[in-house]
This record gives sequence, structure tokens and C-alpha cells, in this order.
Amino acid sequence: MAPLQASPLLHDQQILCSLFVVFLVLGAPAAAARRHAPAAAGEQSAYLAPACREHTASLAEFGGVGDGTTSNTAAFRAAVEHLSQYSGDGGGGGMLYVPAGRWLTAPFNLTSHFTLFLHSDAVILASQNISEWPVIAPLPSYGRGRDHAGGRYTSLISGSNLTDVVITGNNGTIDGQGATWWSKYKSGKLKYTRGYLIELMSSDTIFISNVTLLNSPAWNIHPVYSKNIVIQGVTILAPTRSPNTDGINPDSCSQVRIEDCYVVSGDDCVAIKSGWDEYGIAAGIPTEHVIVRRLTCVSPTSALVAIGSEMSGGVRDVRIEDVAAVDTESAVRIKTAVGRGAYVKDIYARRMTLTGMKRVFWMTGDYKSHPDDGYDKTAVPVVEGVSFQDVAATGVWKEAARMEGISGAPFKGICMANVTMEMTKPRKVMWNCADVEGVSTGVTPAPCGQLQQKQDGAGGSDCPFPTDKLAVDEVTVQQCTYSLPKAATVAARTTN
Ligand SMILES: *[C@@H]1O[C@H](CO)[C@@H](O)[C@H](O)[C@H]1NC(C)=O
Ligand SMILES: *[C@@H]1O[C@H](CO)[C@@H](O)[C@H](O)[C@H]1NC(C)=O
Ligand SMILES: *[C@@H]1O[C@H](CO)[C@@H](O)[C@H](O)[C@H]1NC(C)=O
Ligand SMILES: *[C@@H]1O[C@H](CO)[C@@H](O)[C@H](O)[C@H]1NC(C)=O
Ligand SMILES: *[C@@H]1O[C@H](CO)[C@@H](O)[C@H](O)[C@H]1NC(C)=O
Ligand SMILES: *[C@@H]1O[C@H](CO)[C@@H](O)[C@H](O)[C@H]1NC(C)=O
Repeated sequence: MAPLQASPLLHDQQILCSLFVVFLVLGAPAAAARRHAPAAAGEQSAYLAPACREHTASLAEFGGVGDGTTSNTAAFRAAVEHLSQYSGDGGGGGMLYVPAGRWLTAPFNLTSHFTLFLHSDAVILASQNISEWPVIAPLPSYGRGRDHAGGRYTSLISGSNLTDVVITGNNGTIDGQGATWWSKYKSGKLKYTRGYLIELMSSDTIFISNVTLLNSPAWNIHPVYSKNIVIQGVTILAPTRSPNTDGINPDSCSQVRIEDCYVVSGDDCVAIKSGWDEYGIAAGIPTEHVIVRRLTCVSPTSALVAIGSEMSGGVRDVRIEDVAAVDTESAVRIKTAVGRGAYVKDIYARRMTLTGMKRVFWMTGDYKSHPDDGYDKTAVPVVEGVSFQDVAATGVWKEAARMEGISGAPFKGICMANVTMEMTKPRKVMWNCADVEGVSTGVTPAPCGQLQQKQDGAGGSDCPFPTDKLAVDEVTVQQCTYSLPKAATVAARTTN
């Protein structure tokens, strides 16, 4: 298994002879030229993923029509059903190839040991016919839909209880065509909570890379009750005023690595969650061991990385590094409330470059929303151990920080070191702090009194950042090859 950084990506390399040739033509300049040509039947190509598949089928073999108007719901469902015969242990796994074209579809499910591969010019288009979107039960850890009490629309691409799922492609696109949903949501015309673009539930080993997600009805990528998740090289785009179009929301998940992603959205670029009030407390599944690195975010109304507001299963060990925000409301935002219970602990962020921020730091202990009136007023969340180091912000236009803990349960162990915030104009009050405690070194403008105590002891000026390696950081990719079925096979399978 080759380490990720060292492996070149192949684009639709046409291989005429043997597999051996793949390695001879690796660097061929023709690769670039061929990049946008549709892969023809019989063609062989390569991509990177943690696991390869023995069986490949093209959507075209199942009657798919990529004209942007014909429904491909039956084709997607039949193709996955066909490939699910290889999803058992030792079945070899299956890959569904989505060719160049615009493939309109209603929601469909994935299966185990499965790869959804998008050609660079493939667009999966979400159906705008809402009656084609099944309504499913709310998540146990939320007790209800987030937009409305009761059920919720399923996500465009879903999976439950799966093992080893890959969604990749040469930057092919999944387009949620969310405008219909946003306007219906805003005018109160929806009965149920909006669906997401991708939701994988109770699953193990998820790899999502090199795809572009556009205009989701709501959140974009939602792994929930899952573990061992790598999301890499994903571009997520939605209008900055679109409602709840969060980028990536790990929710009651462990071992998550998000890297090299670019998100422009109307809500948090990454939002780390773990269930809502009494429902989340009862489910009790934390989100832990999360890496967010080399993320670039544009989110004028929300955060680069948010924690909460639903965090009732607990959130701990989040490592954020080498991230950038442009025209964004705040950098790392912690949102919680009495009634949430649980904790937010061991949150580390370093090397953040921020340009054009409403504020840099923001913690909120009285975030208002509750699922219902049944929440436990004695369930007070604990926020403890939050480090920020090497932060450079320019164009900060509202205030440096707003840090509001919970009265009687202050947010503790906040550490800030080497933080420079350049305000667009001087303000009388640049820090607003209440119910927070911590230390700081080298922070400009000078922090509020509650954070002014200096770090003491050896190594004085540094805030902690873990030095151990998480298991999810050891996941590597390999070169996988596939060949598309010959045209004759395609015809045969379609007429069967
Ligand atoms: C994703 O695309 C980039 C740029 O083309 C490439 O360097 C990288 O290897 C690809 N990663 C995967 C997992 O396909
Ligand atoms: C997807 O799978 C779920 C069970 O995980 C099932 O309830 C649902 O009907 C399936 N949806 C589709 C569109 O097949
Ligand atoms: C929407 O989907 C429903 C259910 O599949 C179908 O009966 C109806 O004809 C569709 N409407 C349009 C406008 O396609
Ligand atoms: C997934 O697994 C859980 C626990 O084993 C089970 O309760 C649930 O019914 C399964 N869901 C599906 C859709 O298979
Ligand atoms: C992928 O496509 C998106 C949308 O067109 C584009 O913004 C992004 O730069 C592309 N990424 C790569 C690696 O080509
Ligand atoms: C302080 O942080 C900046 C980046 O924001 C970095 O370039 C610089 O090296 C850091 N200074 C020290 C002493 O680590």
C-alpha cells in the first residue's frame, strides 16, 4: 500500500494490452488530454482508494440515460442491487461507474465493499420531485427532524450498517439542486426535515474523495454512528445564503479525517455533533478522534469548524491544523446549552489563517434551540481544554472574541498562544468574556482579564497539541484499476 502523498492519480488512462502497461504509461502526457473524454466501454482506468473492487458495472448497463431529464432512479437502484451480490466478505466488492452525462435520480442506497465512481464529467442530479423522496424515521439521538418534528426526507445517497464504502471520481459532481428545497423551507411549505446529499449511518470504513458536491438541500456529508472515515479532496459549494447547507458533519462518529477540502456554504464548513438534548444523552455516542486539516472555508454566516450545537453524546479529541477561512463569521465555534449535558473536551487548533472575519473566537453557552420542552434543565455540559496556537487573522470587523460560558459552569482550560488579530478599525471593546477561564501568551489585541493569566511551567508559551498519531491517520490508498464492460455485454445486460 503506497502512502497517499506519493501516489500519482491516473485519469482515464486507456490501456490496450496488459495491466503491466499501466505502470509504463503512468506519466504519459496524453493522460491530461484524455481527462475529459468519456470512458468508452472496454476501457481500463485507475484511481486511488483504500480498497479495490473485483467487479465493475456501468450505470449505462442498467438503462441509465444521462440527458439530465430522464429519471435514472431505477437504473441506480438496479445497479447497486446487482453489485450487492459481491458485498459479502470474500465477494470481491463492486464498483458502480457513472459515465460522463447528467444523471437525474431520486434517492438510492449504497451497499458494502462498494465504490461509487464518478467520471470527471459525470453529474448525479437530485430529483426535484419531492414525492420521490422517501420519508424515514428521525435519528434516535435527535428524537425528531431538525426542521420539523417527526420524520425526515431520506438523503440522496444513503447507506446503513455498511462496511467499506468509497465515493470517488475525478472531481465528478453530485448536484442536490437544492433551490427548490430552500425556498419551500423558507416559506414553511415542507412537512418534513430536508434530506442531505450523503448520509452513511452505523457504518465502518468510509472513504469519500475527489468529488464536487453542489447545492445540497441541507447538510452535504453526514456520517452518523460510524467510524474510520476519511474525507479528502472534496469541494463543496452552495450559495452563502442557502439555509443549513453545512459542509461535513461528523455526528456520533469516531476516527474521522477531513483533509484538503474546500467548502463555500451557507452554514458551518465542518460541524462536529453528537445528538440533541435528552435524545442525544440517551443515545450516548460521542464524536471523538477527529482530524481537520488543510480545510479552506468561506462561510459569511457561520464557522470554519463548529462544535455543536448538538453535542449531547459528548465531543472530545478534535485536532484542527493548517486551515484557512475567508469572509467567514468565526473560526472555531463552540455552541452548547443547559439541557445538552455531556462535554466538549480536548479541542486543539493550530496554524489558522483567517481573512475577513466577523470575529475570530466564539463560544456560546446558551444556544437556544431544543428538540422539545422535555429537556433536562440539570443537564449542564462541561467545556474544558480548548487550545489555540499560531493564529493570524486580518480584516476582523466586529470584535476579536465573544466567549460566553455557562454561569456556575464556566468553560475552563482555554489556552491561547501566538494569536494576532488585525481589526479593520479600533473598537472600544474587542473581547467580550463571561464565565470562561484560561491562560494566554502573545495574544493581540490583549485578551479579556479571564484569559490573561500567563502559561507557567516548562515550555511556557505553548498550548497543548497531541503528538500521538490517530489510527485514522494511518489509512493509506492504493492504485485500483477497472475495465468497463464491452459494448456487447452492455447491450446484453440491458436487454436481459
Ligand atoms: C485526488 O485528486 C488529486 C488531484 O488531482 C490527486 O493528487 C489525488 O491523488 C487524488 N486522490 C485520490 C484519493 O484520488
Ligand atoms: C434504503 O435502505 C433503508 C434501510 O437501510 C430502507 O429503509 C430504504 O427503503 C432504502 N431506500 C431505498 C430508496 O431503497
Ligand atoms: C413525481 O413523483 C411521483 C411519485 O413517483 C409521480 O407519481 C409523479 O408523476 C412525479 N411528478 C412529476 C412531475 O414527474
Ligand atoms: C442496522 O443494525 C442495527 C443494529 O444491529 C439494527 O438494529 C438495524 O435494524 C439495522 N438497520 C438496517 C437498516 O439494517
Ligand atoms: C473540482 O471542481 C470544482 C467545481 O468545478 C472546482 O472548483 C475545483 O477546483 C475542482 N478541483 C480540482 C482538484 O480540480
Ligand atoms: C506565530 O504564528 C505565526 C502564524 O500565525 C507563525 O508564522 C509564527 O512562526 C509563530 N511564531 C512562533 C514564535 O511560533
